[in-house]
Amino acid sequence: MNENKKVKEFLDNLKIKYRIIDVSKEFSCLTDALRFLNIKYRYGLKILAYKIERGIILLLTREDRSVDEKRLKQILNVNFIEEASNNELLKLGFPNGKLNFFSLKSKFEIYVDSVVFDVGKIVTNLDSNRFLIEIEREELERFLKDLGFREIEVSFPNPLLQDSDNINIKTVLSGITPSGKALHIGNYYGAVKPQMELQKVVDRSYYFVADLHALTTVQKKEELEECIINNILDFIALGLDPNKSAYFRQSDVPAHCQLAIVLANYIPFSFLKRMHAFKDKLEKGATYDQINMGLFNYPILMAADILLYKPDGVPVGEDQRQHVELSRDIAERFNDTYGKDFFPLPEPLIQSGFSAKVIGTDGKRKMSKSLGNVIGIFEEEEIIKQQIMSCYTDPNRIRATDPGNVEGNPIFIYHDLINDDKDEVCDLKRRYEEGKVGDVEVKEKLFKAHMRTFSSAREKRRKIAGNKDLAKDILCEGAKKAREVAEKSIDEVYEIIGIENEMSCRKMY
Ligand code: TYM
Repeated sequence: MNENKKVKEFLDNLKIKYRIIDVSKEFSCLTDALRFLNIKYRYGLKILAYKIERGIILLLTREDRSVDEKRLKQILNVNFIEEASNNELLKLGFPNGKLNFFSLKSKFEIYVDSVVFDVGKIVTNLDSNRFLIEIEREELERFLKDLGFREIEVSFPNPLLQDSDNINIKTVLSGITPSGKALHIGNYYGAVKPQMELQKVVDRSYYFVADLHALTTVQKKEELEECIINNILDFIALGLDPNKSAYFRQSDVPAHCQLAIVLANYIPFSFLKRMHAFKDKLEKGATYDQINMGLFNYPILMAADILLYKPDGVPVGEDQRQHVELSRDIAERFNDTYGKDFFPLPEPLIQSGFSAKVIGTDGKRKMSKSLGNVIGIFEEEEIIKQQIMSCYTDPNRIRATDPGNVEGNPIFIYHDLINDDKDEVCDLKRRYEEGKVGDVEVKEKLFKAHMRTFSSAREKRRKIAGNKDLAKDILCEGAKKAREVAEKSIDEVYEIIGIENEMSCRKMY
């Protein structure tokens, strides 16, 4: 192993004790390798590069942390800061556009997040993710001192990457509207993948299919039914574990509607007028007569969906951030009105980077079932191929020999998300920029990567297709668990607001 030799030389010169771990297979990122080896995320050392006005700086933090970029900007006293992309790193001479332990020997300023020194050792990747390096804390400190660094406090826990013995998110909840026949990769990378990861580490996870929300657009009962069944089967194929998560249908838990009616009284009309879904409709020319009240009230029902379960976090895509924030506003107003900390304020748990808002194949708007700009997960191969082959790329590139742009190019965003063969992605990006590869090859490789990445989910989905009984069993079990919590919350709310008292006959029927 060549890199290993280089690193050995590099470290031996500095007299650092270290251990090299052979992961035995290549992982696309450190997170996956740590998970495979059962090493805690807190030991993972993440090396990031940021562009600032005066050039590039390197920042070392832990795998279980997210960088507070606003704070970093203040600490560095700069006006502009942006994480360098793989492509930019490639141009700066970092092999494959990736940073690793070896990159620390470059001459850039080094900043170290202080939490790195809170753990006994660090593990990070060498040139390839097949090999990791482990170093004790004291050795790391000594090594960094020799390189010169500044210690700063710049991160907060990343709720999606907490070790199970350290998780501070105990309850999560999220929903999906069954207004499309199948999930697309936007749903998957923005929401479903993190939801499936969270179910393994939190104490309680509630996921549901928001059929009452779907009524704003789906008003044919057979279509609604089909969407609901497909939805639950898609989730099972993507890793839903009904023993860990309660998966239910919103309308099976009447407390959602009961709480929505109550919460509507604690939020002004003007707040709802500012909500994106409503404003977008108006901007697209819809009149008040064409917008149903279900759409206008949607954020209140959603706040009820969330608050009933008192979750710490709500894993969703970026497009739902405003809704989760509104539910925090409503919770605060309710709490203030009655002078009680009844509803905890839920955190939106949103992925970083391109996963938070996966772009559509039209290259213009967010991938969305209603816009028809999606790449599916479970459709027939031919359909997925067609979706990929018709994807927008670089409009300024007419011939395969023209140098192309990979930054923000949807086809490369999808490669970064889906393609597990990172060397192939780097090679394609390089050749695209040099005008040495055609769009067709880039798209065909993406199609193959899609088939590889989702092959076991697709296989599972095929096996359970049409299995209504399975879907029903899971929804019934889920509804039982959800009702237990939701009914307790609504009883408590009724008591706080004065509806549940000795005069109330509610529980007699
Ligand atoms: P829905 O059905 O539109 O989408 C389901 C989840 O997928 C995410 N998502 C995306 N993420 C990244 N990129 C994309 N292109 C993309 N498209 C969709 C969404 O952000 C969402 O997390 N209102 C919600 C359903 C809902 C809900 C709730 C969610 C109802 N009640 C309570 C959370 C909590 C919706 O329509 O999502």
